[in-house]
Amino acid sequence: MSKLEEDLVAKYDQPVPRYTSYPTVPDWNLESFEKSQYLEGLSKSFKDNNDEGLSLYIHLPYCESLCTYCGCNTHISVNHQVEYPYIQALLQEWRMYLKLFEQRPKLKEIHLGGGTPTFFSADNLKYLIEEIKTSVELLPDYEFSFEGHPNNTSYAHLKSLKAVGFTRVSFGIQDFDRKVHQAINRIQPFHQVAKVTRWARELGYKSINFDLIYGLPFQKESSIRDTIEKVNSLCPDRIAFYSYAHVPWKRPGQRAYDEADLPDPSLKRKLNVMGQALLRENGYLPIGMDHFALSEDSLVKAFEEGRLHRNFMGYTTSNGQLLVGLGVSSISDTGYGYAQNAKSVKGYLMHLGKGELPIVKGHIMSEDDREIKTRLLAVACEQKIQTKEALSLYSGQRKRLEDLVSDGLLEKTADGFAVTPTGTQFLRNICSLFDPNFGKQKENKVFSQSV
Ligand SMILES: C[S@@+](CC[C@H](N)C(=O)[O-])C[C@H]1O[C@@H](n2cnc3c(N)ncnc32)[C@H](O)[C@@H]1O
Ligand code: SF4
Repeated sequence: MSKLEEDLVAKYDQPVPRYTSYPTVPDWNLESFEKSQYLEGLSKSFKDNNDEGLSLYIHLPYCESLCTYCGCNTHISVNHQVEYPYIQALLQEWRMYLKLFEQRPKLKEIHLGGGTPTFFSADNLKYLIEEIKTSVELLPDYEFSFEGHPNNTSYAHLKSLKAVGFTRVSFGIQDFDRKVHQAINRIQPFHQVAKVTRWARELGYKSINFDLIYGLPFQKESSIRDTIEKVNSLCPDRIAFYSYAHVPWKRPGQRAYDEADLPDPSLKRKLNVMGQALLRENGYLPIGMDHFALSEDSLVKAFEEGRLHRNFMGYTTSNGQLLVGLGVSSISDTGYGYAQNAKSVKGYLMHLGKGELPIVKGHIMSEDDREIKTRLLAVACEQKIQTKEALSLYSGQRKRLEDLVSDGLLEKTADGFAVTPTGTQFLRNICSLFDPNFGKQKENKVFSQSV
């Protein structure tokens, strides 16, 4: 890494949100949230967006064991009796939404996230999807995807999910180093990953994503190099290269290892820059925050054609505005407001038991919120800032914009500013320009570091 690059990464490495929503969850105005007003927004959004199609995120929270680094909402259990009641609860929640919609929904996307969706048996997952499919009109270009843990994704999972319409799978890889695996309580041999990847290809999955993380305990330049080499030999279509989010105050599991075993900030930055360079050398193009894909991938095409979108599920080619989240801790986004479900299975089931939607908090969007969200999305997806948007910045924000230009992360264009190739790894920082709440968090311990 050049001295210049090192200085830039050090300068911009600060706590910044990932901006999967605006306002970000810690900035939601919880006091003024009214469920009835939220549901009015839902109906309006359904009318506006049904032709584009609805996106459905389904959270399946269980995992058999805890990977100590994990920042996701998980419930650790080895008892598979929990599967069926949870699936029934998801279907009950879905039926409550169906009653609120005035017509049969058109469905564009389903994403099964977790936790570990493949904790559930292939039959239970198939049943869940078949039931949902009976209640919707599927759009011709629908996309179903799921997160699979390579250690428990079976051939039956891949086959059954393919049979009900899944064509995309994302495997959690993180790293291939044995010492790292031991520290994160996730022993996951390369041959296991190679096997599930081969199965997915044989069964005709058209897109395979691998999640990688840099900044895990005991990672060093040689282990990242080795991991990326192994990943490259399996040729996934997409790769997410995440910065390890160290948030032990939220995820006590992360206290299982000694902080001294984490790469120090300077090494972590080196791992990031080196990893990104290797991915590019291997033909992976950056598409927004943390994500890379081979040139023929639909996300790359959508980026090149200015059709890329982003929602709570990540980058997508769908331009629908309505995302319904089912299950524990899921967040729904209507374009007029956000709502989050109860975070514990017990709380989630309790609300459903009373016949009510399990929403426990949310935010109603103001006109200003909607405007700012549009600007953030233009940075995250099109990597552009229009002149009139730049002019609307307050003086402090304008000074930051000038800094970004003089540091070579943004460049002036005929109609505004564009993110430079160097700037692509600082998209979170560039987005934060438009966030009036940025830097005003009561404490820094809300977001993870940007790099
Ligand atoms: C729900 S998991 C993926 C599915 C499955 N549970 C698995 O682990 O294979 C989602 C992804 O979030 C990422 N992740 C989890 N905790 C993280 C953390 N603390 N920092 C950065 N990324 C994290 C990992 O890359 C992980 O693959
Ligand atoms: S990384 Fe995946 S398998 Fe591990 S605890 Fe988190 S959600 Fe579960």
